Amino acid sequence: MEKIVTLTLNPAIDKSTTVKAIVPDKKLRCADPVFEPGGGGVNVSRAIRKLGGTSTAVYLAGGYSGKHYEHLLHEEGLNSNVVEISGHTRENLIVMDESSNLQYRFGMPGPRIKEHEWQKCLQILEEAQGVEYIVASGSLPEGVPVDIFAKLAAITRRKNARLILDTSGEPLKQAMDDGVFMIKPNLGELSALHGVEELHREDAIEAAQQIIRQGGCEVMVISMGPSGAMLITRDNVYQSPSPTVKRKSTVGAGDTMVAGMVLSLTRGWEWGDVLKYGIAAGTATTLNAGTELCKLADVEKLYKHLKSVKVDAHFA
Ligand SMILES: Nc1ncnc2c1ncn2[C@@H]1O[C@H](COP(=O)(O)OP(=O)(O)OP(=O)(O)O)[C@@H](O)[C@H]1O
Ligand SMILES: [Mg+2]
Repeated sequence: MEKIVTLTLNPAIDKSTTVKAIVPDKKLRCADPVFEPGGGGVNVSRAIRKLGGTSTAVYLAGGYSGKHYEHLLHEEGLNSNVVEISGHTRENLIVMDESSNLQYRFGMPGPRIKEHEWQKCLQILEEAQGVEYIVASGSLPEGVPVDIFAKLAAITRRKNARLILDTSGEPLKQAMDDGVFMIKPNLGELSALHGVEELHREDAIEAAQQIIRQGGCEVMVISMGPSGAMLITRDNVYQSPSPTVKRKSTVGAGDTMVAGMVLSLTRGWEWGDVLKYGIAAGTATTLNAGTELCKLADVEKLYKHLKSVKVDAHFA
């Protein structure tokens, strides 16, 4: 398997379209839909490919929609390892309302996953050779136990690999009880993790340092949308703003950011550069409409203009 393996337990076909105006009761005539294979881990794998890297995407898929999903991934040329399930892969709907220039994202629940199906994913990861980073991103479908990422943390450790988690709530909490390499919450997700309504930048750094001291993770990247991100290690805090751009769609920004960071980690980059590359990748994704991810040329252009500032953790 590739050095980077992504895991997607709740993949979805993202169906994007546009409509003149969203109004109730009337038949809304939509433009030709564009279908793309979505879901956290797969998005990370697709973004890694856009950035010129490779990974293996391990994911669950089933039914006709599952076959469609496999076909879409195949068309993109991704290395993958699919675990067949008896349920049907979900399909999400993303609609751009041209009258307001607002995007509506409708997410469907995933199929119920059977025990032998999720167990098979873990088995594939357990047996994979040559893996350095496992990236798990996205929500859990019904049937998957809430401690799945904690189980994954244990597997990753046994393999001497590093686990990067981009998820939220109880599954994230339980994995952190076990200890993971990196997590990438946004401010809202970190607030929830910390058990408070809202965290400001300074409190977020303090909360991250507390989690790191307790062994929840080694590195935390707190993403803040257009305000950029902070990367926090035991000893340092790195900060960088996002470049100001004309955003078209933020779908996949978080996943692309994770892709940029894991790829630069496999290249042995310094923390400040890892953060900048993640921000450049995330921001480049916002330049494209719908669910389209980043273009490498945009990422490289944005990266050059970014500066990351290293602040001593005690003075951050
Ligand atoms: N409006 C924006 N302008 C510039 N950059 C952006 C914008 N939104 C997101 N980004 C870039 O993408 C990164 C990740 O975005 P964000 O903090 O919104 O993640 P997220 O909440 O996890 O997103 P997602 O909904 O994809 O999970 C940001 O740190 C930033 O670099
Ligand atoms: Mg996110």
